[in-house]
This record gives sequence, structure tokens and C-alpha cells, in this order.
Amino acid sequence: MCGIIGYIGQKKISPILIDGLRKLEYRGYDSAGICVLSQGELKTIKRMGKLEELAASPEVAKLDGAIGIAHTRWATHGEPSEKNAHPHLDCQGNIAIVHNGIIENYQVLRDLLLKEGHKISSETDSEVLAHLVEKFYQGDLLQAVKETLLLVRGAYGLAAIHKNHEQIIVARKGSPLVLGLGENEMFIASDVPAILEHTKKVVYLNDDEIAIVGQTDYQITNLEGKEIDKKVEEIKWTVEQMEKKGYKHFMLKEIFEQSEAIANTLRGRIKDGQVKLSIDFDVKKIKRIIITACGTSWHSGLIAKYLLESIAEVSTEVDYASEFRYRSPMVGYSDMAIVISQSGETADTLAALREAKERGAKSLGIINVVGSTISREVDSGIYLHVGPEIGVASTKAFTSQVVALLLLTLYIRQQKGMSLDKDLLRDLSDIPEKIDQALHRAEEIKKIAEQFKDSKNFLYLGRGLNFPVALEGALKLKEISYIHAEGYPAAEIKHGPIALIDQNMPVVFIATKNNLSEKIISNMQEVKARRGIVIALVSDSEEKVEQIADYIIKVPETKDELSPIVNSIPLQLLAYYIADLKGLDVDKPRNLAKSVTVE
Ligand code: M6R
Repeated sequence: MCGIIGYIGQKKISPILIDGLRKLEYRGYDSAGICVLSQGELKTIKRMGKLEELAASPEVAKLDGAIGIAHTRWATHGEPSEKNAHPHLDCQGNIAIVHNGIIENYQVLRDLLLKEGHKISSETDSEVLAHLVEKFYQGDLLQAVKETLLLVRGAYGLAAIHKNHEQIIVARKGSPLVLGLGENEMFIASDVPAILEHTKKVVYLNDDEIAIVGQTDYQITNLEGKEIDKKVEEIKWTVEQMEKKGYKHFMLKEIFEQSEAIANTLRGRIKDGQVKLSIDFDVKKIKRIIITACGTSWHSGLIAKYLLESIAEVSTEVDYASEFRYRSPMVGYSDMAIVISQSGETADTLAALREAKERGAKSLGIINVVGSTISREVDSGIYLHVGPEIGVASTKAFTSQVVALLLLTLYIRQQKGMSLDKDLLRDLSDIPEKIDQALHRAEEIKKIAEQFKDSKNFLYLGRGLNFPVALEGALKLKEISYIHAEGYPAAEIKHGPIALIDQNMPVVFIATKNNLSEKIISNMQEVKARRGIVIALVSDSEEKVEQIADYIIKVPETKDELSPIVNSIPLQLLAYYIADLKGLDVDKPRNLAKSVTVE
């Protein structure tokens, strides 16, 4: 994780770097630091805690210079502290580096450097990079960084500056880095939002590429020195899309954006009763689908399994990317690997993709961030087009992933020559309206949240397509409110979890109308009989549940295939309001980061 930004140009440097870090705070926010080359000296300021600690420091405002790098940290090695914050310097204070990733062999390198007399002052893996560059430096910073990188094992997005050079050296392996090309100025960053205010022209670095960046030019090579000609890309997102637009939190804004977001995912993809996707290989030939993803994206993958097997009639497995990559999976040429990732940068998902490709599978990405690493490595893909998601808790990306996966399911069915359900296509096109209706009930959900903000535990139960929705509801609640929450298939609780039910246990049932609703109502009775508190999420026309449930959340009626999209909305709102009522930092929950680029 961690966020990196760098600047070389003639403008006042500290606002550029600090504002850039603000846009990257979703990547980590336990400490931050800045280093500027000023009158031949490197001036470094670091602060423990949120970025505002650094931003508010009067020394930062005084910084002046034409070259600088800055970093916001998500701790991997060494606790969050000022000493462990980046930038890290070499012994002489001539070289500064910022790093995102993990240096796996740092201990060996650290021991070697200590033996050679280097003074290492932090507990981080990253600091060895500054000392290795120092060790190899003989007047050529690029060469010293290259020699350093040939020694390290692990992942890095790296930026280095030296007090004698008007350049920034950047390199990438496993952690994203992008160059921003301005007029007589250059930027480097972990992610586009950090530089979007200044330029929309970017060049993405690939793994094993290194760049030397000056004020007006740059050159990209591989570590062997072979020059690489890269395409300059134009970013379509606007600065406005990145801002809160009057909402208290990005998460709330992103929840309320969902009807528009999903309209964008659908745009141009359903036409004349057909699903239009451009997939570069023949999906008819696919015998089996393997979905890999992490967290919320894994939940949308679980929903897709139900859809792909019942509608497209293709056998589908879903695996955590972190498990898939190390379990010698049986994958071959007739398989398709679907990787789902909002950020397109999740380290485990990327590694799972590479593993599946290596074993001969065709690959398809369901990705939001255009130009992200995964989007560039898949054989084909479906972009979500929901705009940037800044809140750490994924909301609009989740619902649009489900939409994209349903489109894919229908497309596979269509390509196999099977007829499409016209009503389902129509209802899918109309789903933004249903989302809006669900959002109109936010105030009712807030009232329920008030009752439960002090609960210690929660259970979420669902069946069929709504079992993954239960998992997702529980994940949303735990990650932002720190309330312990579990999701289960409703019928499974009698095999153990029912022992937890008492008068203090709120149980959220996702019980909208489908062929299993009678059964789930019986599960509700089982909870009620043990004095559990039932919060039932039901379809508008449902009446039976009113005598059983303590609290009722109604959602507009949809076809079962679309119910995960609509049912997720109140669960997102419930988690949001509980966390906000507890006074927590909803957009930046403790210990988390938006983009998990370490394994
Ligand atoms: O960017 P990705 O979709 O690959 O991210 C995967 C997970 O890290 C992410 O969904 C995480 O679980 C979110 N915090 C959930 O809200």
C-alpha cells in the first residue's frame, strides 16, 4: 500500500505534494513525510498520524525547491511512527527514497549494510533501499538505483532523489506508478488522482521498468537499460468526480451515486435485445470459469457463480486470490479466469491472474480503474465506468461488479446460441430506478442504525444469491464500525452459530421474495424462538414477516437475479450510519487501505 507523489518544476512545491498526498490517503494513513531539494540540501519533514499532522506543520509551508517527493504510509514493517515514516535517507543525507511495497529480503540486506557501517535508523524494510543506492552511487543516480533493484526481492513502487541531481528516478515492480506530463513540469505518483488537478496526460510504468524524470523530459528503460517506448494516455476522470460534493463522507456520496454509476456500467451494453460486449476470445469454447478476487470483489464473484451456473450453464469456481496463487490450481486451456478488482492493483489478484495465464487459461478482468495493472494484463475486460471510488469501503464498485458479471453471464448464454430472458434484460436496464427507490429510504435505515450503534456483534443471513450479500453486509459493518459481524447461509446457522443467539444479538435477514423466501422465514422463526433481534430486509409487498421481525427494511421488488444489487443498498447504509453515529472515520477505517498492493 502507501502513496507516493513527486514533483519537478517551478511551482511552489509543498502544496502540490501535500494536496497530492491527500488524494492518496486512501492508500495508507498512519504517517506521512516529504523531502524537498532546497538550495543543494535535502530537507525532510515527517509526522506520525494522519496527513493533516504533516500538512499543518509550519516547516512544510516554508519548504521551497524545484524537486520533491512525498509519501503516506500504511505500515508493514515497523509500527507507525515518525522514525518509520518515509522518505528514508542514506547516511549522509544525500539521497532520499519513498517506497510502496515490501522488500522480502530486506533482513539479509540490512545485515550486510550494517556490517559495512551504514547507520540504519528505522525498523522498515524500505530504508535499506536508500542505503543500497548510497552504496552503489558513483555519480550516476539512475545506475545506482538499477544496481540496488537487481539485489532486492519483493515489490516496489520507488522514487529516489539525490541532492546533486535535478531528476527523480522511479521504478516499479508490483506496486503501481504513473508519470504525469505537464507543461515544463513533471509529476510521479502511485495513482492518477494525486496529479489530476495538474495534468491529464500520463504514462503508466510496467513491472521492471525504471524511469529518469527531468523537468521537461523523461526516459523509460528496463533494468538492463533497453529503452521502452510508451504510449501517453489521456485521463477521462474529472477533478470534480474526485470530490465529496457536499456529502459528509466519500462513502455516503458513493452509496448515493449508485444509480448513476450503474447506468454508466450498463451504457451501450444492452441493445436490441442483445448484450454487447467486446471480448477478444470465443466464450462459447470455455468449459469452466474460475473467479479470483479479494474482499468485496470476491463477494461479487460468489454472486456470479450462482448466475453463471444457472443462466450461462458454465461450471464456475470462486477462489480467494490469495489462496489460488499458492495452491497449484488445476487450470488449463479450456478455462477462463475472471479476475475482479475495483482498483486493478490488488497484489493477490494480480498474482492469481498471472498464475492462471501461465497455466493456459484465457483471462477476463472486471475492473474499475482504467489503465491499472490488472486491466493491462488481462486478455479482455469489462470496465465498470463508475468513476473513482475513494471511500475505503467498497460500495458502488460492488454493485456495478454484479451488474458487469450479469452482463457477462447473459453474453455467454447469448454466444452459446441460447435465448435471453427479455424481462430480465428490461429489468436490468431499469435497475438504476430501483436503486434510487431503495436510496429514498435512507432516513428509515438511519433510525434503525441508532438502535444498534452500541451492539457488539451482528449476524447477517441470506440464501442463494443473497448469501454473498449477507457476507458483504457483514464485511461493510465490521470494516467501518469495528463491530464484530459474520455472514452465513441462513440454513447453516443451526449447525453451530445459532448458539450465539440471545436477546443481544441483532440478526439481519436478507429475505426478499424468491423460491427460498418461505424457508428463510422459517429460519427467522428459529432466531426469534431464541430471543434474537430480527432485522428483516424484505420486498415491498411482503406482509408475513411483519409479525415475526422486530425491524423491517423494505426494498423495491425485483427479479431474484437482480436482488443482490438492490438489497446491498440498505446494508451499505446501515453500516455507514452505525459507523458515523459512533463518530468513526468512515472513509479511512483503522488498519485498512483502499488499494492492497502487498500480499
Ligand atoms: O481493488 P479490489 O477490488 O481488488 O480490492 C479488493 C479488496 O481489498 C476490497 O474489496 C476490500 O475488501 C474493501 N475494503 C471492501 O470494502
